[in-house]
Amino acid sequence: MKKASSLRPTKPSSSHVTHLSSSHRVFGKLGCLLTLACLLFTSTLHAQVLGGAGMVQRSLMRSGLSFSSADLRATQSDDSLNPGFLWIDQGQALWQQGSRSNTVDHPSCAACHQDSQQSMRGVSMKYPRWDKSTSQLINLEGQINACRTQRQHLPALAYESDELLGLTALVSLASRGLVLSRTLDDDLKPALLRGQSRYETRMGQNNLACMHCHTQNAGQHLGGETISQGQPHAYPAYRLEWQRLGSLQKRLRACLSGVKAEIWPFGSQELTELELYLSFRGEGLAIESPGVRR
Ligand code: HEC
Ligand code: HEC
Repeated sequence: MKKASSLRPTKPSSSHVTHLSSSHRVFGKLGCLLTLACLLFTSTLHAQVLGGAGMVQRSLMRSGLSFSSADLRATQSDDSLNPGFLWIDQGQALWQQGSRSNTVDHPSCAACHQDSQQSMRGVSMKYPRWDKSTSQLINLEGQINACRTQRQHLPALAYESDELLGLTALVSLASRGLVLSRTLDDDLKPALLRGQSRYETRMGQNNLACMHCHTQNAGQHLGGETISQGQPHAYPAYRLEWQRLGSLQKRLRACLSGVKAEIWPFGSQELTELELYLSFRGEGLAIESPGVRR
């Protein structure tokens, strides 16, 4: 059995992570040139759907980490300090766990998927995706629970439980360092457009849209925090205020509560469609989950 601690990359790959913040600076120049052909092609396609006011110009895209203090940046970049790995270690233990009762087999995740980091490379970036079998948008947590219930014959894990966060963070870790890019299937368009429109629509007693803070006022200060571009690529993330790891939807619910808007339930279509829009809006950023945030 693979030891969980072996997931903490040793020096070479953690310095790869430290490069992330500088890669944002370089990305605008070098990365854009290198991927110009690819960008021209995909951005025309995406522009039809995503030419909206909530988007951030690619050359200006920045990780939330770059708005954080030096302390937080150091904590996220060092896997031995990053508290997210406490959940990832639990996730890896759960990944290996299988059992059998007299009548039912409960195979481990590993029994079907083998090594978590190899088999799950690039997977988290495909979520949320359209699930043809249920005709619904499904996020990574939903996919993990689908495997739990249908293939492991075990009860679904609750949103924000240590178990579900651990598995989600474990699967996301396998994509760390990969550049977020999405494919726009026709199936996804209606949900994506709804997510986009929600992002641009004023809500709550404060009458603000997501884009008023994260597109138009990134870099401004608000109640002791610096507003970032609201990018999704570091989630699940450990937040000091929560004293624990949290999903992207938990972060979105905190923003909804901040503007005194209706707080949609975990796993709701509203939050999952926002998650979908954010994944398209964040294209070009390198995955950095598990993030560390204030
Ligand atoms: C009995 C076998 C089996 C077990 C056990 C199982 N899975 Fe799966 N899993 C599958 C199959 C089959 C697919 C669909 C593969 C595909 O669509 O390419 C899948 C798909 C997935 C995907 C999506 C992959 C993708 O490319 O979109 C994730 C993530 C996943 N499983 C995670 C888990 C986790 C976490 C566990 C343990 C909690 C688990 N699975 C347990 C068989 C299993
Ligand atoms: C009143 C301003 C405000 C509004 C409106 C707002 N947020 Fe936020 N949001 C914040 C602040 C402050 C933070 C914490 C600091 C940061 O990372 O930006 C945050 C954090 C985030 C993050 C985490 C970024 C990271 O790197 O950790 C995401 C994602 C996000 N918001 C998305 C949204 C979405 C989607 C909406 C609309 C439903 C929204 N926000 C509405 C202020 C706002």
